[in-house]
Amino acid sequence: AMIDCATPDGEPVFRSRGLREFLGYNLEDLDDAESRLASTLDAGVHPDDLAGVKKAYAHSLSTGQPYARRHRLRRFDGEYRWVETRAAPMRNVEGVIVQWNVVCLDIDGEVRTQEELRLSQEKLARAGQAASLAELSASIAHEVNQPLAAVVANSHACQRWLTAEPPNLDRARITVERIIRDANSAADVVSHIRALFKQTLYPRTASSLGELIAEVRGLMADELRKNGVTVVVELDADMPPVAFDRVQLQQVLVNLMRNAVEAMSSVRGARTMIVRAQTSGEAIEVRVSDSGVGIPMPDKIFEPFFTTKENGMGMGLAVSRSIVESHGGRLWAENNDEKGSTLVFTLPVKAKDPE
Ligand SMILES: Nc1ncnc2c1ncn2[C@@H]1O[C@H](COP(=O)(O)OP(=O)(O)OP(=O)(O)O)[C@@H](O)[C@H]1O
Ligand SMILES: [Mg+2]
Repeated sequence: AMIDCATPDGEPVFRSRGLREFLGYNLEDLDDAESRLASTLDAGVHPDDLAGVKKAYAHSLSTGQPYARRHRLRRFDGEYRWVETRAAPMRNVEGVIVQWNVVCLDIDGEVRTQEELRLSQEKLARAGQAASLAELSASIAHEVNQPLAAVVANSHACQRWLTAEPPNLDRARITVERIIRDANSAADVVSHIRALFKQTLYPRTASSLGELIAEVRGLMADELRKNGVTVVVELDADMPPVAFDRVQLQQVLVNLMRNAVEAMSSVRGARTMIVRAQTSGEAIEVRVSDSGVGIPMPDKIFEPFFTTKENGMGMGLAVSRSIVESHGGRLWAENNDEKGSTLVFTLPVKAKDPE
């Protein structure tokens, strides 16, 4: 076990071999330092955890209350490991603290297992959400609109405080603080979304595109039936497996197929969508064709928020393109000779590392 004994004001006076070996130096090495405690913390505690640890120590030392905290601690080899440190005061008969006894446990394995569990739960939750871009878009809009509305309201208020006779600078200052807070929270939403679409945490595993297409078709079965759309799937034999992020590619296919359904909503008679996957050089090409209205401006449609639909957000293709490109592929639109259009994306057979 890693044990540390300290004076009543927290200065370490003894360290067990376990702790010395973990840290990679001896207590005497700190003799030049003004405070052994402070230099131990500065040198070892992870920078992100340092302030909290120092505060908790200071609190315990000034009140005599036991100390307990989990944080990352630098091992002799430079690796940060999660530890749980507990410190309790030892008192004499008068109740005066004579020494602090500190136990430090390496709980790195445990913390990592919990973290993995949390991540896989998150992933599960996200997979459930990813299918509906419309829902996602609506919630993004809502999340960003709330703080923006508050920013506007507070800006008006601020203007009033400043133009009052005499100007109320104190109130104006408070209002500006609120504006900053709300603007920051809007910015947070945006960066959170960006992280969501990157999803670099998920391993890209080599899998079959045929399976993915079947999966998405299943996901959309209701929607397809309601709109009277028949889907024909054509798969090249012997396609090499490609590496991709399942949830993200699922989202791309849902976006493309939903657009195809929507493009055919005014078509009388048979509504057929063809989803074809074929090998093309060093890549696999997936083509989603419809016999819908066609696309007058094939480049414009990839711009975020470009939409011709009453309830559209215009994010489907923009997001899809960024996902495909992050896989090292391309996504573009073609108009068919006959009728309707085809959205094509490629995925390189040799995987690109996630950015
Ligand atoms: N298969 C298609 N046929 C004809 N037009 C299409 C097709 N796919 C996309 N478009 C056009 O491109 C626009 C942008 O598509 P995108 O998927 O980015 O947004 P959206 O479908 O309007 O809204 P959402 O964010 O809900 O997907 C559409 O509004 C439509 O005008
Ligand atoms: Mg769309």
